[in-house]
Amino acid sequence: MKFNPLKEKGLPIEKQVRTWHDIAHRKYNKNEVDCYSRTRQILMNGIEVEAWNFKHNFARNTNHEDTCEFLAQTKRIEDAQQTTINWLAPCDQSVLETTLGYEQVAVDLTAWLAQNEPDPYVKETLDFGLLEDFDHLYRYSQWAYMIHGISPDAIVQGQTDVIIGRPTQHHHNCNILRLRKPYDKNTATPQTKVNILTIVSGEQQTHNYYGEHGFAYGSELLRETYAEIKDVEEEHVTMYESLIDPTESFYEKLLLHEFTEVCTYHNCYEDEQHPVLKEIWEEFLAMEINHLQTAAELFKKYEKRDPEEIIGEEVVHPCHFESQKEYVTEILEEQIDKRLGTDKDYLYIKELPDDWASYDIQKKVSEDGAPSEVTIRVIAQQKDRDLVIADTQLQNKLPELVKRGLQKKGLAPESVTSEEYKEMNKEEFLF
Ligand SMILES: [Fe+2]
Ligand SMILES: [Fe+2]
Ligand SMILES: [Fe+2]
Ligand SMILES: [Fe+2]
Repeated sequence: MKFNPLKEKGLPIEKQVRTWHDIAHRKYNKNEVDCYSRTRQILMNGIEVEAWNFKHNFARNTNHEDTCEFLAQTKRIEDAQQTTINWLAPCDQSVLETTLGYEQVAVDLTAWLAQNEPDPYVKETLDFGLLEDFDHLYRYSQWAYMIHGISPDAIVQGQTDVIIGRPTQHHHNCNILRLRKPYDKNTATPQTKVNILTIVSGEQQTHNYYGEHGFAYGSELLRETYAEIKDVEEEHVTMYESLIDPTESFYEKLLLHEFTEVCTYHNCYEDEQHPVLKEIWEEFLAMEINHLQTAAELFKKYEKRDPEEIIGEEVVHPCHFESQKEYVTEILEEQIDKRLGTDKDYLYIKELPDDWASYDIQKKVSEDGAPSEVTIRVIAQQKDRDLVIADTQLQNKLPELVKRGLQKKGLAPESVTSEEYKEMNKEEFLF
């Protein structure tokens, strides 16, 4: 049935203020929660952080009194929603366990978005980012085992493969090359706009999480690994946000932010099985419908346009989570050797010019080795191989994929070679 949030009944703003108990008391059990309830929790935290952040930014840039009042009231609501959602994670869930959750979000969300993205250029960008977060999951999984002695399946529950992607050392680019071509706000669909805001929010929160927690462990190599991957997440935020038409007005952006919140909550509510989380999604959806309708009134008043021109007349589905192994394998096999082009396009390694700007960055940051590579050497010293969870067919293709995925230029010293992967593949990983 068509769900038009401009016509649905929301929760009046005066009913959205909650008690501290209501805000802070709920949490899930890390051993019992479904991995996709956890990914929804992680994503929606990121959505709320972006909603809150954007409103502060808008508030610093307007003198419209009624808009300032709306922003002031709802900033507090977005913030309290964020607390409730983020603090659903129990205190016994370690930073590395949460980290695996973040990368599972990135992989399975990006794969879903890519397959539901009407704009082929945006889809290509999502596929490109997908293989990078996929590799992060593999690198962090080694650490979850080495530090906490757990299998990554304790978090990803067999839904997402753990195996090398585009090697992390090659994710470091000249950030200018990360800039993509923006969509045209007049022709892009609401689906494209919501998809991009959703992925930007997710990537931004991942970046923030690594920045706030990467120092939680004593291991210097793990700190460096967090620093290395955090920097890639910064590139991801730069890449995805550059897809947004920069000429959208603040009111247009406000409308799109509230609409994205509505769509993501609606999608979460439809998919959720966990009773505590489902109740939250339902309640917060009702709040967001109210925010959206007020944002729509402000948009009409100040822009003299219909909000339907921007958001259409029904919700889209930007965050359905399900196993994406097949799709990810397909993109991995096709695109492990894909790189950012020089003309906001994409090129394969063999097509890159000799003066490709990212070579300089890669050479500099990995001058004395890439932590993501050294990670594999360290675990291989202990276990004779890396930790991989994927079917044998894919594992057997790995040495070949590594050969294609590693660049000759800009390669970090001590990188794990394709031959070494071949040798490691003969060993069994004993937990
Ligand atoms: Fe919100
Ligand atoms: Fe990542
Ligand atoms: Fe990312
Ligand atoms: Fe909102």
